[in-house]
Amino acid sequence: MTTVTNPAVTEMLRDGSRVTIREVRPDDKAALNAFFEGLSAHSKHLLFLGGVAHLRDRDLERMCAPDRAKAMTYVAVPAAQHDGRIVGVCRYASAQSPCVEAEISVAVTDDWQHKGLATLLVTRLIEHARNAGIERLYSVDAATNHRMRRLARHLGFSERPDPDDVHQVIYTMELTPAGR
Ligand SMILES: CC(C)(COP(=O)(O)OP(=O)(O)OC[C@H]1O[C@@H](n2cnc3c(N)ncnc32)[C@H](O)[C@@H]1OP(=O)(O)O)[C@@H](O)C(=O)NCCC(=O)NCCS
Repeated sequence: MTTVTNPAVTEMLRDGSRVTIREVRPDDKAALNAFFEGLSAHSKHLLFLGGVAHLRDRDLERMCAPDRAKAMTYVAVPAAQHDGRIVGVCRYASAQSPCVEAEISVAVTDDWQHKGLATLLVTRLIEHARNAGIERLYSVDAATNHRMRRLARHLGFSERPDPDDVHQVIYTMELTPAGR
């Protein structure tokens, strides 16, 4: 497992607004909590597959200070504002160490959706995972989550039904090692 640190990048979205995408920091905890609390009930339902209403303190802490051997979180903040607001979050985490495969999740605050932000966040995370030596990323999602399906297809993930739940699908991406 290679430890990689990537610099922040500022990108332009489809509507011309600019965001900075960077690795999460421990002092992002309050902003991250506000981000999840601010998602619409529909977005929360899709993100947590109906299971979570509020994130626990220790989950937020884990997200903000990921164990880099098996997890990483990227956040997006508006480049024009400096109020600490987070508008997008993308992360992977694995139970294994060393980490061969990891589960990813992504969410964009409702009024920043449909601008290409999730595409940028996941692309950045894929690059990070590949450089960290992870071989496979996957995501388990509701079969009715059509936006995630379009996003996953657009990014090149393959799709299969979840053998354990007919209402879910699994998106998978095999990562070619960096430099090959
Ligand atoms: C799913 C989610 C993350 C998508 O966020 P987003 O920032 O709106 O997504 P993007 O705009 O980057 O990308 C998806 C769309 O752009 C399209 N797209 C982006 N760039 C494109 C390109 N260069 N060419 C073609 N299509 C492109 C995708 O196909 C898709 O199409 P759509 O706008 O018709 O739906 C967001 O809806 C969300 O937060 N949902 C709630 C949480 C959730 O469901 N998370 C996923 C499960 S972990």
